[in-house]
Amino acid sequence: MASPSRSNPNYYFHWVRDSGIAVKAILSLYQSATQPAARQRYFDLLMDFADFSRHIQRTATQSPAGLGEPKFTIDGEPYSGPWGRPQHDGPAIRAIELTRLAFVLLSEGKRELVREKLYDAKLPTDSVIKTDLEYISHHWREPCFDLWEEVWGHHFFTRLLERTALIEGAALAMKLEDAGAARWYLEQSRALGDELLLHWDPGRNHLVATRELDGRPSPRSGLDSSVVAATLGGYATEEDLHPEGGCVYPVDQEQVLATAAALESTFEAMYPINDPSRRIEGTAIGRYPEDRYDGYRGDSLGNPWPSLTIAFAAYYYKLAERYLRLERAVLTSTSLPFFQRLPLEDARFRPGEELRLGDPRFDEVVFALRRKGDAFLGRVHHHINPGGSLSEQMNRFTGHQQGAPDLSMNYAAYLLAAGMSGHLPSSR
Ligand code: NOJ
Ligand code: NOJ
Repeated sequence: MASPSRSNPNYYFHWVRDSGIAVKAILSLYQSATQPAARQRYFDLLMDFADFSRHIQRTATQSPAGLGEPKFTIDGEPYSGPWGRPQHDGPAIRAIELTRLAFVLLSEGKRELVREKLYDAKLPTDSVIKTDLEYISHHWREPCFDLWEEVWGHHFFTRLLERTALIEGAALAMKLEDAGAARWYLEQSRALGDELLLHWDPGRNHLVATRELDGRPSPRSGLDSSVVAATLGGYATEEDLHPEGGCVYPVDQEQVLATAAALESTFEAMYPINDPSRRIEGTAIGRYPEDRYDGYRGDSLGNPWPSLTIAFAAYYYKLAERYLRLERAVLTSTSLPFFQRLPLEDARFRPGEELRLGDPRFDEVVFALRRKGDAFLGRVHHHINPGGSLSEQMNRFTGHQQGAPDLSMNYAAYLLAAGMSGHLPSSR
């Protein structure tokens, strides 16, 4: 469930998006578990999720084909009240996590299980991953509601995850002798990639979260932390899977870096708890500057969110990891604002420069990324409830937890980010 809270607000639902993020954490626990009993427990949870997902895919809802339906009751009944539907990021997140699970099971020699439960290479299909991939590949051009369930249009977050799902799904299709499908998924992923390029606004120097349909300029700035969060969605990068493809938005893409910097400086100036006079490290991050949802009502004042502040920590860790893997970091005039915000002591560089492994400035950048990642986690620790619980939001004036208590996404995000920080070399 998104949260155990059954009223004010009622989050006692299987939200497809929230569950997909929780499953991402369970999968990583499964992969790192050493005790057989723990491994079995995570395995059972994953299988249960696959079965439950297949069940709700088959359930008639108010959204076409059922797959865009954003939330179900805990026992798998569709929510029948009015809601922002359809939402298309949920099936994408679900497909990404289940595809990853399929690869893990294949590496354990469980090919039959994968074919039976996850991907059957048939049309019409009776398997959960292929059902999602067919839906995504045929419906991504249609507008939908965004992940915040408020805005109708074409969304960077939704589309980047749809694209990731198609690319990783195509790799699985290839492995399971479904080459025609793989080709179709890749073709659609390329067309999606072209659409994603339209989200860049060079005038504002950041990616814009939503492209609206009527062509009228949006009253919103378009700045939205979901853009940065979306880049955390994938596992393999596109280069790993399809060398000819070229990756559109890895974490070190200059437009993503510029967007991260713009979000940080905006939220820093906007939320009083971020005021430097309070001397708390790590910027608390919210959804978007114009947000008015306070966790209870939509006509109030938005706040920073633990899950998004943790997502920024994960972003910095993933960026450090990527630079270490590539053994270089490139600085451009677009990404300059990002590097200017890093806590660097002596490193000096100019746009157009490439820092390589072995250059002391490269090490300094990597360590600064790690330190900043730690600071975002530290920020969440600073405002955590005495018993260690986290709610959906942190009050912008006091830092107190508010909105849905024990939001599952918080704990999933925390587990994932903490796991990533453990893999990086420690700071000097
Ligand atoms: C509101 C958030 O905007 C949405 O993304 C989330 O799925 C639900 N709460 C449930 O946590
Ligand atoms: C509930 C949604 O989940 C949330 O994202 C949205 O901001 C509020 N409703 C607005 O009222």
